[in-house]
Amino acid sequence: MADEAQRTAGGSIDFRNVVKVFEGRERIVAVDDVSLRVEPGAFVSVIGPSGCGKSTALNIAAGLLSPTGGEVLLNGRPVLGPGADRGMVFQQYANLPWKTVIENVELGPKIRGVPRRERREIAQHFIAMVGLGGFEGRYPRELSGGMQQRVAIARVLANDPAVILLDEPFGALDAQTREILQEEVIAIWSATKKTIMHVTHSIEEALFLADRVVVMTARPGRVKEVVEIDLPRPRYGLSGEARLRYVELTDQIRHLVREEVLKTLRREVAPARAAL
Ligand SMILES: Nc1ncnc2c1ncn2[C@@H]1O[C@H](COP(=O)(O)OP(=O)(O)OP(=O)(O)O)[C@@H](O)[C@H]1O
Ligand SMILES: [Mg+2]
Repeated sequence: MADEAQRTAGGSIDFRNVVKVFEGRERIVAVDDVSLRVEPGAFVSVIGPSGCGKSTALNIAAGLLSPTGGEVLLNGRPVLGPGADRGMVFQQYANLPWKTVIENVELGPKIRGVPRRERREIAQHFIAMVGLGGFEGRYPRELSGGMQQRVAIARVLANDPAVILLDEPFGALDAQTREILQEEVIAIWSATKKTIMHVTHSIEEALFLADRVVVMTARPGRVKEVVEIDLPRPRYGLSGEARLRYVELTDQIRHLVREEVLKTLRREVAPARAAL
């Protein structure tokens, strides 16, 4: 069980001309013709202005939303709904408050019919991996935000998905906890070889984590540019050439995102101000 080689390796994710339109009082094109391939075992971060369709795209990959057009393929097979091959971590820790840490983590294996002893072992393994050994019997309310997010990550890992989807998983955390969890996620990613698609507002976070950063346009969300992050790992405390490259990449991505944020402001904020 502790042998990672026996576990599911990372899968590929293919967005093929994905479109999502929300029909309500107002028709909103949230995602517009997004095509993107994430290679098995890659770490991709998606960044873009608020409301540009990042969560929508991730939710389509998770199978929680169906696309209006196009499709998402997981390992070449169309995503038709949620499945154990994908695990999602949300900004707000989505643990079951009436279950203890270990009960939360073993829930996935339990649903899949894994025998009690084995699923306890699996849960224990991942609780230890996220640094929560000793907290198995606690309830989520008895834990800090960072610890609750660790439980959410352990829950996802216990399901042994091919793909992990992270929607601003560190957004609600303080800066120090965020940094530590980022390092842990990278350690887990290296150990498990999972494919990770991650949404963030933080350029620093994207540069710390990702192989590639996908910059999205303002709504309707399209892929504006894909930036290869050719920085050595680990990326904590880079110096010399690598540090210079880090600064260069930061500026490049900041500029790309800023163009899109300004577009949103011009379109939505300026008319509202003019109407005052
Ligand atoms: N269920 C829904 N019904 C109607 N409109 C929606 C729904 N979900 C999202 N939207 C709209 O689609 C657009 C994209 O939303 P989405 O949540 O994907 O943005 P986002 O990039 O994740 O933003 P943020 O960075 O603020 O989390 C927004 O305009 C939002 O209002
Ligand atoms: Mg979002």
